[in-house]
Amino acid sequence: PLTSSLNVCYIGAGYVGGTSSAVMAYKCPEEKVTVTVCDIDKKKIDAWNSNNLPIYEPGLEDIVKKQRGKNLFFTTDLNSAINAADIIFISVGTPTKQRGFGAGEAAELKYVENATRKIAQISRNSKIIVEKSTVPCRTAEHIRTILNTNKNSQIKNNISNYTTNHYIKNNNNSIINTNYCNISNNFNINNNINNTPENSNTYCINNLISNESNIPHERINNHPFNNININKTSDDVNINNDDYTNLIDSLSLSNNDSTLTDIDSCSESNTCFQSQDQELKELNKQISDDEVDIKIKKNDDKLKNEKSLIHFEILSNPEFLSEGTAINDLLYPDRVLIGGEPTKEGKKAQNILYQLYSYWIPKKKIITMGLWSTELSKLAANALLAQRISSINALSALCEEVGADIQEISYACGLDSRIGSKFLNASVGFGGSCFKKDILNLVYLSNAFKLPEVAEYWKQVIIMNEYRKSKFIKNIFTKLFCTISGKSIAVFGFSFKKDTKDTRESAAITVVISLLQEGAIVKLYDPKVTKDQILFDIKENSQPQEINENISNIIICNSAYDAAYNSDAIVICTEWDEFKSLDYKNIHNNMNKPAHIFDGRLILNHQELKKIGFNVEAIGKKI
Ligand code: NAD
Ligand code: UGA
Repeated sequence: PLTSSLNVCYIGAGYVGGTSSAVMAYKCPEEKVTVTVCDIDKKKIDAWNSNNLPIYEPGLEDIVKKQRGKNLFFTTDLNSAINAADIIFISVGTPTKQRGFGAGEAAELKYVENATRKIAQISRNSKIIVEKSTVPCRTAEHIRTILNTNKNSQIKNNISNYTTNHYIKNNNNSIINTNYCNISNNFNINNNINNTPENSNTYCINNLISNESNIPHERINNHPFNNININKTSDDVNINNDDYTNLIDSLSLSNNDSTLTDIDSCSESNTCFQSQDQELKELNKQISDDEVDIKIKKNDDKLKNEKSLIHFEILSNPEFLSEGTAINDLLYPDRVLIGGEPTKEGKKAQNILYQLYSYWIPKKKIITMGLWSTELSKLAANALLAQRISSINALSALCEEVGADIQEISYACGLDSRIGSKFLNASVGFGGSCFKKDILNLVYLSNAFKLPEVAEYWKQVIIMNEYRKSKFIKNIFTKLFCTISGKSIAVFGFSFKKDTKDTRESAAITVVISLLQEGAIVKLYDPKVTKDQILFDIKENSQPQEINENISNIIICNSAYDAAYNSDAIVICTEWDEFKSLDYKNIHNNMNKPAHIFDGRLILNHQELKKIGFNVEAIGKKI
C-alpha cells in the first residue's frame, strides 16, 4: 500500500478516462487516493456530474454515484487539477489522422500533445505522467521532450519578462520587483495559506492589520509572507503571537527601506502595480545598474533552480478494457502493464503506480516492463484480436459457399487449447473506435520503418473486415430480388456491439447507408443509441448530395416490434440480448411477405424462424 496520500488526475473524461478513474476511486482508500478527472468538453463534465452519465456501461452508474464528491471529482478546471496532481493519466483520444502526413493511417497525436503542453505550462512540482491513451511506439519520448523543452522555454520567458518591465516603486521609495512575485504567485502562495480567491494573502493581511494605520497599503500588498503562518477560518484570521510581531515589524521596518525588495510570494493584486517601461527607466535611475543586475541574476538563478527541480517521469500504462464490459474488465483485468525507464527514477515511478493498482489487482497480474514494449503491446494486442475476427470472417465467407457452418468451425477450432475458444464469433464485421485505427497505426509504423510486407500483412485484416460487410449487404440485395427501392427494412441494433451506446465504426452504419443508397426506407431500433447520435452518424457518413434524402428515409423506432411492423426484412446488426427473445411469430404476422431475416450476428434460432415462415439468411452458413 501507498505510504503517503496521492492526488491522481485524468486528462480526458471519455470512455477510458471516465471508467478507469471511477474504478480507481472505488477501489482505493478514500483517505489515501483522490481522483480528479478533467476535460475541455464542458457538456461532458456536466454529464459526469449529473444523473445522466455521458456513457453507458453496466455497473458504472453505481460506482460513480458512490464515489463522486468523496474521492472522485469531474471538472473543467484543468489548471487546478494538474497543479494538485502527483500522477497524471493522459487519456485523451488518438483517432486516425484525417489530413496531412499519414492521413488515413497515422494516429492523430494533437490531443496528447496539447495535454502534454498543458502539463508543462501548469506544473509547479514533479509529477509522474502516464500514457493511458493508445499511442504509437516511442510517443513517451516525445512527451518527455515536450515537457522538458517547454519547461525550459517557460523559464526563458519568465526571465525575459522579469528583466524588462517589472519594477515598481511603493510609497516609500523602495523598489519592488513584482514580476518575480507574479511568477511565484502561482505556486508559492499555496505553501503558506489556504489560497482561494476570497481567501488570498492580501485579504488576510489587510484584515489582520487594518488597524495599523501607519502601514501603507502597498506595503501590505507587497509583503513577503514567507514563514508566517496565517490561517483563515471563515472571517477570522489567526496568526500566532511571534509571527504577528515579526509581521508588523517587517512591515514597519521596511518603511525606511530604499533598496530592491524581493518578493517570494504575494497576492494577485500585485499585478496592478506593474510598471510600464517608461516608469522603469525613471526608477532605474534611483539605483545603480550593477545593483539591478545583481538582483536580477540572483532571482534568475533562484527561478532556474526552482524550475529545474521539477522532474517528469513518463510511464506507459495502456488500457485493455472492452466497451460493454468495461467495469468488469477494470475490476478483474487479465493484466496491467506498467512500462518505464530502467533508471532509478523510472523504477520508483513504476513502483508508485504498482502500489496504486495493487489495492485491487493481484500482484502477479501487474507486469512492469520497458516503455517501448508496453506501448507496442497495446497495438499488438488489438491487432491480434482483430486478426482473429477477420480470420473467422474470411472462413465464414467460404462456409456460405460450401455449405459448412461457421459456428461449428469456430467450436471445433476453439477446442484446441492453443487456439482457444474466445473471440471466434463470425459477424457482419468488427467495429469500435480502436481496432481499425490501431491496426492502421501499426500499418503506418511498419511502413515508416520500411517494412512494407509487415504493413501489408496487417492491412489485410481491415480489407477482410470491409469485405465481410459488403458481402453481407450484397446478400440482402440479392435475396430481396435485387431491388430494395421503396422497401421497408427493419434494422435491429446500431451500436458497434451490445451493452454500449457507442457507435464509432459500427458495421451498422455501413449497412444502413448502403440500404438507404438503394432507396430503402430504414426503420431502425437500438435499445441505447439516441436518435441524435443515429442521425449524426448518418449525416457524417453520407455523401453531401445524399444527406437530405438519407435522413428523410430513416425512421427511428421505439421498439423492435415497431421497426418490423409492415417491413419486408429484418437485419440484425448488433447482438443485443433482447433480440434473442422477441416474439418472432407475432413479428412475422405483421410483416410484408415473403418476410426475410438477415442475422449478421448469429444470435437467433434459425430453424425456429424458418418454421415460422421467415426466409432466413445468416453469416457463415446456408439455412
Ligand atoms: P474519447 O473520445 O471517449 O475521450 C477522449 C476525451 O478527451 C474527450 O472527452 C475529449 O474532450 C478529451 N480531450 C481531448 N483533448 C483534451 C485536452 N487537451 N484536455 C482535456 N481533455 C481533452 O476517447 P476514449 O474512447 O476514452 O479513448 C481514449 C484513448 O484510450 C484512445 O487512445 C483509445 O485508443 C484508448 N482506448 C480506448 C478504449 C475504448 O474502449 N474506448 C479502450 C482502450 C484504450
Ligand atoms: C477492443 C479490445 O477487445 C479491448 O481489449 C481494447 O482495450 C479496446 O478494443 C480498445 O483498445 O479500444 P472493444 O472495441 O471495446 O474492445 O470491443 P470488442 O469486444 O473487442 O469488440 C470489437 C468489435 O469486434 C465489436 O464490433 C464486436 O462485435 C466484434 N467482435 C468481437 C466480433 O465480431 N467477433 C468476436 O468474436 C468478438
